[in-house]
Amino acid sequence: MITDMSASSAPPESHLVTAQPPHVLIVVSSTRPGRNGPAIARWVETELAARTDVRATIADLAEIGLPLLDEPNHPSDRNYVHDHTRRWSRMVASADAFVFALPEYNRSMPGSLMNALDFLYWEWQRKPAGFVSYSGGAFGGVRSVEMTKQVLSTLGMFPLPEMVNVPHIDEHMRDGDFIAPERAAAALSSMTDTLLAYAAATRQLRAA
Ligand SMILES: Cc1cc2nc3c(=O)[nH]c(=O)nc-3n(C[C@H](O)[C@H](O)[C@H](O)COP(=O)(O)O)c2cc1C
Repeated sequence: MITDMSASSAPPESHLVTAQPPHVLIVVSSTRPGRNGPAIARWVETELAARTDVRATIADLAEIGLPLLDEPNHPSDRNYVHDHTRRWSRMVASADAFVFALPEYNRSMPGSLMNALDFLYWEWQRKPAGFVSYSGGAFGGVRSVEMTKQVLSTLGMFPLPEMVNVPHIDEHMRDGDFIAPERAAAALSSMTDTLLAYAAATRQLRAA
């Protein structure tokens, strides 16, 4: 039998209706040594820190260090046997919205992100997600975003139509920092406005 769990409703969570600004988790999706992901995430964090309507923190998948999925139960059971899963669960559950710093690997998302997504289920549900994608080539990670959106939708998330895409990423790196082109800062600002609007609406949805 095929069960479509996306139709089920999420268990109620107590922290959902709150006066605090939404918490955006900026996820560093890549894990390889020498990666550009942390610099992209730091840039997003700095841009968001300039606003008063959002709280932003970084979740770096390399630091979090999840193994390949090793939970025996389906994540929708929320019956985790490993501490690393419980820690990751708490981090994701604390977020109202996500920005994925997302590279393109073989025209798709890195396996590290797919694995981290697979670990959880309810924690992702009914939350919006934006992307700052980047790539070595000319497409700026758009193909990676499109593949990721399909998975996020399956997890009951709301991937935004707006995104920030940075092609030829190495041309924008200086001494380990990402020097954002002007259009990227404008695109991030606009995407964040939409992300926060979705975050406010989906908070209500999750509290219902
Ligand atoms: C395994 C692998 C596959 C890649 N595939 C693509 C690709 O399909 N298209 C592209 O434009 N760049 C590709 N690149 C280049 C990456 O997008 C670029 O190096 C980016 O900085 C990788 O993210 P990271 O530095 O955070 O690991 C690939 C890089 C790696 C390591």
